[in-house]
Amino acid sequence: MNTIKLRVLTLAMLAVASAPALSESQTVPMPVPNEASIPKGPMGDAIKRGKALLTDTHKQLPKNVGNGLNCTSCHLNAGTTAYASPWVGLAGAFPEYRSRSGKIISLQERINDCFQRSMNGKPLAFDSAEMNAIMAYMKWLSTGVPTGTNVTGRGFEKIDTSLKPNPVHGKSIYTAQCASCHGAEGQGTKNPQGGYIFPPVWGKDSFNVGAGMARMYTAAAFVKHNMPLGQGGTLSAQDAVDVAAYFTQQPRPDYAARVKDWPKGDKPKDAR
Ligand code: HEC
Ligand code: HEC
Repeated sequence: MNTIKLRVLTLAMLAVASAPALSESQTVPMPVPNEASIPKGPMGDAIKRGKALLTDTHKQLPKNVGNGLNCTSCHLNAGTTAYASPWVGLAGAFPEYRSRSGKIISLQERINDCFQRSMNGKPLAFDSAEMNAIMAYMKWLSTGVPTGTNVTGRGFEKIDTSLKPNPVHGKSIYTAQCASCHGAEGQGTKNPQGGYIFPPVWGKDSFNVGAGMARMYTAAAFVKHNMPLGQGGTLSAQDAVDVAAYFTQQPRPDYAARVKDWPKGDKPKDAR
């Protein structure tokens, strides 16, 4: 065989071999590393600091948080719960294209998106000790997840977006099944030591209108799998859509920069 033919053949074989990686990401089971595997020394200290920042965000980063939430108010159990948008595996999933931004973004940019929207606050500097600590924690959480794959349970459960919301029925579900913790006015239940025991779901201390959780179907998907806390999976998809239609539309902080979202014109129907 001449060299040209050999090269064509090799290229063809390479193309076949690399095809799966170039198509839709593969899904792998979600491993959660054991705390005991956190190394000693500066790297281990950064991982622990990152976890502390993510679970106690309101208190530890007052300059960057503009509401009463912690990152883990939504990313349950320090980002290790499947279908509560876990952080496991994200170190090898980013950079990634996002339609809301209309471009490829880094994990740091994605983290800052949640600081500005979900936390109604301000971004961290990319080279700050705090951002590096958060990145160190997420990288440690991603141990064992191959680069370019997604874990099972990344993001939220799929929800049927053809379901039509009934916010009046949603209000009665809220009163019966959510208000005991999140308050009749969505104001949450304060912790006498500061912050909240049960976080607010609307009002000045909640996520802003530009947050993913302000979108009805995103909120419904989160609620269906995770709420009422400890009884996830008990609401029907229709009930989850109804209760989400009720609480997402209540008053909450504005996010002026949201007019720049979805620059390619593919704005989802439930975005505010
Ligand atoms: C009010 C709920 C809420 C809070 C609080 C919150 N997030 Fe999020 N986060 C979301 C939602 C919803 C998504 C998915 C949004 C979407 O894709 O539509 C998300 C997505 C993410 C992602 C990308 C996940 C993936 O699979 O691509 C990262 C990383 C992230 N958040 C980090 C953070 C950090 C760090 C904080 C704290 C500074 C935080 N989040 C606070 C709701 C929240
Ligand atoms: C037993 C108390 C309890 C009940 C009942 C409950 N939640 Fe929650 N909810 C929580 C806690 C606690 C968190 C935060 C998790 C954490 O910090 O670990 C949370 C988080 C949330 C969040 C994300 C954070 C935020 O404040 O926006 C939403 C949205 C939410 N719950 C909606 C609901 C809805 C809707 C219902 C009713 C169907 C409900 N919850 C019932 C305790 C409860």
